[in-house]
Amino acid sequence: MADIKIGLIGAGTVGSGVVKIMAKQTTFFREQLGLPVSLARVADKDLEKLKTLPVGDAILSNDAADVINDPEINVVIELIGGYTFAKEVVLNALKKGKHVITVHFEAAVGGGMPSIKTIREAMIGNDVLSVYTIINGTCNYILTEMTEKGAAFDPTLKEAQRLGFAEANPALDIEGGDTGHKTAIIASLIYDGYCDYDKVPVRGITEITADDIISAKDLGYTIKLLGVIKRKEGEESVDVRVNPVMVHNDHILASVNGVFNAVLLEGDAVGPILLYGAGAGEMPTASAVVSDIIDVARNIKSGDTNRIPMHFYSLENELKIKGIEEIESRFYLRFLVDDKPGVLADIAEEFGDRNISIASVMHKEAHDGNDHVPVIITTDMAIEKDLRDAVAAIEAKAFTHGKTQIIHIED
Ligand SMILES: NC(=O)c1ccc[n+]([C@@H]2O[C@H](COP(=O)([O-])OP(=O)(O)OC[C@H]3O[C@@H](n4cnc5c(N)ncnc54)[C@H](OP(=O)(O)O)[C@@H]3O)[C@@H](O)[C@H]2O)c1
Repeated sequence: MADIKIGLIGAGTVGSGVVKIMAKQTTFFREQLGLPVSLARVADKDLEKLKTLPVGDAILSNDAADVINDPEINVVIELIGGYTFAKEVVLNALKKGKHVITVHFEAAVGGGMPSIKTIREAMIGNDVLSVYTIINGTCNYILTEMTEKGAAFDPTLKEAQRLGFAEANPALDIEGGDTGHKTAIIASLIYDGYCDYDKVPVRGITEITADDIISAKDLGYTIKLLGVIKRKEGEESVDVRVNPVMVHNDHILASVNGVFNAVLLEGDAVGPILLYGAGAGEMPTASAVVSDIIDVARNIKSGDTNRIPMHFYSLENELKIKGIEEIESRFYLRFLVDDKPGVLADIAEEFGDRNISIASVMHKEAHDGNDHVPVIITTDMAIEKDLRDAVAAIEAKAFTHGKTQIIHIED
C-alpha cells in the first residue's frame, strides 16, 4: 500500500503536540497497525520554530499553499485556528481532494476527551436520553475558584487571566458561546438533525455572584456551567441549552473541578457514561487529532470513506429546539426585598397562583442597618414560563428591589 502522506498546517500549541505524538507513534502505526502514515510536510509562519520540533524527514515551509498544492499529500491537518484563513485552507484542501482534519473534528469538542468517537461509534446502539457537559475549562476554573475561595466573579476572572486560564478577551468563554458551539455539535450528532447554534438559549456565568455560590453551598449544591441536551419521550422539540445550573453535591458532575471537562451521556441501553479529562492543552488535544489521523488512514486503507460516516445528520433536517420558556426544571431564585411582614406571603401567593410548588425558603436577617434582605427560594419542577411570570409579578411589587437571580437546579 502507498504511503499515506500527512501535511500539517499550523504548528502552535496543538500542532506541536501532533508532531511530537507522530514522532513517537509512527513506527507503531506502520508496523503494528499496518497503516503506512508519515508526516510529510509541516507549514507554519515561523520556520525557525519548526526546526526545534521532532519533524523527522518532513519538508518544512512557511507557506500553507506548499502543503495544499503538493499532490502527494493525502491528508491535511488544519491547526491554525480562527475562521478566515483557516476556512480558506480547509476549502482549498477539500477542492484538491484531500482528507481534512478539522472536518474530522474530534478535538473540537472536549479536546482530549473522545466525545465525538463515543457518540458516533460506541453509543450507536442507543437512543441517547440526555447529555450534560462541562466543556469550558475557563468557566469551570472560575466557578471552582469562586466556590473554594468565596470570591466574587470579577477578581476571579482577572486571576484566571493572569494564570493563563482565561483569554485576554474572555467573552466567548464566560458568556457561554464556546459551550454552546460544542453542545450544538453534540446535539446535531445525537438527534440526526442540524442544531442551529443561533437558536440555542445560551447564558454564561457573568451574573453569578459570591452570594449565589454561598447560597448553593448552604443548600448542598455546586454551581456549574452546563451544556444540557435532552428530549422527552414522544416530544418533537429538544431541550438544548447552556446555562449555570446548581448541581446537587451528590451528582457526579459536582466534583468536576478546575479546568477539567466532563461529558455525561445517558443511553437507553448502556445507561450513564462519564467522560472526564483535559478539554484543552497541547498533548491532550493533539491526542484527539492523531485519533482522527488514524481514522482517516483506516478509511483510506479499507477504500471506504464512509466506513464510519463523519456526520450522520443532514443540514436539511433542522432540530426543533425548545425555547427557554418551555423548559421544565427545578429553580433557585434570589429576591432582594424589604424586611417587613407580609412579603413572604405575597411571594408565596404569586407562586401558588401559577401552581408552582415551593421546596424551600431561606430568609436572611437584616444587619448593618440594611433594610433590603435576600430571600432565597427553591422550587419543585416548574415550567420556566410560569416561573418567569411569577418573578415578573413579584418584581413589580414595591417591596422588591433589583433583578432577581434565577438558576436551574439539577439533582
Ligand atoms: N489549544 C488548545 O488547547 C485547543 C483545544 C481544542 C481545540 N483547539 C483548536 O485547535 C486549533 C489550533 O489551536 P492552537 O492553540 O494550537 O493555536 P496556536 O497555538 O495559536 O497555533 C496556531 C499556529 O498557526 C500558525 N499560523 C497562523 N497563521 C498561519 C498561516 N497563515 N500559515 C501558517 N501558519 C500559521 C501560528 O503562527 P503565529 O503564532 O506566528 O501566528 C501558530 O504557530 C484552533 O482551532 C483551536 O481552537 C485548541
